[in-house]
Order: sequence, then C-alpha cells, then structure tokens
Amino acid sequence: MRLAVTGATGFVGGAVCRAAAAAGWPVTAFGRRAAADARHVGGAAYRAWDITAAKLADPPDVDAVVHCAAAATDTGVAREVWRTNLLGTHHVLASFPGARIVHVSSASVYDPYRPTVRAKEHEAPVSRYLNAYAAAKAAAEQLVLVIAREAIVLRPHAVHGAGDPTLLPRLLENVRGNRLLVPGTGRVLVSMTAVDSLARACLLAAATETVRSGVFNIADRAPVTIDWAVRGLLASAGVPARPAYVPAGLLSPLARVFPRGRLNRYVISQFAVERTLDLTAAIDRLGFEPVPTVFPPPVPPPFPPS
Ligand SMILES: NC(=O)c1ccc[n+]([C@@H]2O[C@H](COP(=O)([O-])OP(=O)(O)OC[C@H]3O[C@@H](n4cnc5c(N)ncnc54)[C@H](OP(=O)(O)O)[C@@H]3O)[C@@H](O)[C@H]2O)c1
Repeated sequence: MRLAVTGATGFVGGAVCRAAAAAGWPVTAFGRRAAADARHVGGAAYRAWDITAAKLADPPDVDAVVHCAAAATDTGVAREVWRTNLLGTHHVLASFPGARIVHVSSASVYDPYRPTVRAKEHEAPVSRYLNAYAAAKAAAEQLVLVIAREAIVLRPHAVHGAGDPTLLPRLLENVRGNRLLVPGTGRVLVSMTAVDSLARACLLAAATETVRSGVFNIADRAPVTIDWAVRGLLASAGVPARPAYVPAGLLSPLARVFPRGRLNRYVISQFAVERTLDLTAAIDRLGFEPVPTVFPPPVPPPFPPS
C-alpha cells in the first residue's frame, strides 16, 4: 500500500507514518515545516507542502492519502482555520484525484449544544457550531465525501498518547498550585482515543477492500469519566495536582466575554457534558479493535520536537 500522509510532522500524522512504516508500507510524509525528524515520520521520505498555497504540482503516485494536516485549534483566527481545514483539504483532494482519501476529522462535528451520547455517525453535521474549527471540520468532511472517489472519514475524540501537543499541555498550563480548574462536575462520560489506536484505524481505512466510503467514529473501548481522565493525565505527567470543578453556569458569562480565552464555550462544552461515541460501525465494517483507555506513567515524548 503506497501511502501519503499529510500533517506528518504532527501528533496524529507522525503516529500514522510510524505505523505504516512498521507495516512495511512505502510512505511519503508531508508537513508544512521545511524538514522533519526522520524518527518522527518513521523514516518516510519527507516533503514540505503548505496545503493552503496550492495543489501539488508533482504528487507522488499513491494508493491512499491519510489527511491529518489541520489547524487543530479552538482559539485560532477563523480565517486561518478555514483556509487550512477547508481550502487545504480541497488542495489535498485536487492533488490526489485517483487515491482513496482517509480524512482524519473530529468528533467536534457533533452538536456542541447538546450532550453527545453514544453518538452515531449520521448525527453530524449539525447547523451550528461554537467555533471555526468544528465548523470547518464539518465542512471539510462534506467536501471529501462529495469529491473523493473513495472517501473514508474518521472521527476521533480527545486523542491522547506520548507526544500529545494539545490535550495534556492544555491541562498543564491551567494548573495553579496543586489545583486544576475544570468546568462541570467531573462525573460526565467522555470517549477518548489513543493515538496509536487511531493510527491503526487509519491504516485499516486505507487498506480495506470491503468499504470504499463511509464515516466512522474512532475511540477507546469504553468511555471514562472526566474526573478519571483528568486525574490519569495529570498523574501520567507526574504533576501532583487535583481537579477543582466549577459549575459550567458560573464560567459561561466569562466565556462570553473572552470567546477565544482558555475557558471558552467550546472548552466548557467539552468538559461539562457527555461526549461519547458509538463505535459499532468502525468495529463491524472496518474491523477496528478498540483498546482500553490507559495513561502510562510519566514518559518523555517519543522524540524531541524538531
Ligand atoms: N489531537 C486531538 O485531540 C484531535 C482530536 C480530534 C481530531 N483531531 C484531528 O487530527 C488531525 C491531526 O491533529 P494533531 O493533533 O496531530 O495536530 P498537530 O499535532 O497540531 O498537527 C497538525 C499538523 O498539520 C500540519 N499543518 C498545519 N497547517 C498546515 C498547512 N497550512 N499546510 C500543511 N500542513 C499543515 C502541521 O504541520 P507543521 O507542524 O509542519 O506546521 C502538523 O503536521 C487534525 O485533523 C485534527 O483535527 C485531533
């Protein structure tokens, strides 16, 4: 299976490259930066490409593209987020018209105004979102499903694992003393996705002969409570802090005043209400084997940042 991976310098894309390399697949890794650490991309051939600029003039001949590149931010400038996540996706599709596209989307495409309870794939997109990230991810899914000859969309949630640049750092930067302020009660359930498990799902989606198009939730085997997840993540980082829960209703006025602040409405919606995914489709149709959510003891990231 000849694979191209966008966003290969990132958390998910790097894991996909390493998994593909371990499977013996030839990989062309794409990132925006000029060069990548060869270990991060599993020794793949690396090419720099800003996907917002234009389609590739000389794309490699591949069977499938795992498209991980994105502005993965809930506080980014809307125009830049849309340019990367929608225009960039358009350029990826235009560059590889004959290849299967495995599009790494997000569970952010589910309704942010209601709890996501064992959501099934048909429950998204919805008509309104809390930020450009979710709206652009939802739009990009539709673009991929309409344009690509074969399109498999994966929706992970709260991706965790060594080298995580988002979830854990975000928690750690909000630790004050031995306390971490968390919206909600901590008792609601959340589906999380181990990065290596997501990488395996990407390879399954790239290679399956029985599915040519479809949308699939990807997560760990069973949901966990926010409290369990937060405590586990803090412990895995060796940080002796405890969560302090603040009712969402008390934080909401603040979030309205600072819409792109750390405790914005999107963040509150992610922590204060249930966000769980139904995995039936991925298990039955892709042969996905979910793993339990575990947070290993403190480990350095797999490679120093390049
Ligand atoms: N992490 C999560 O919890 C999570 C949850 C759900 C869904 N996802 C989805 O998973 C995918 C990967 O996320 P991640 O966590 O791996 O993010 P990440 O670590 O921030 O990586 C983002 C990647 O996208 C690349 N990129 C950004 N802008 C680009 C541009 N204009 N042109 C080319 N490449 C560009 C970056 O390249 P450079 O670093 O070289 O600039 C980097 O390789 C995203 O689609 C995200 O929406 C992530």
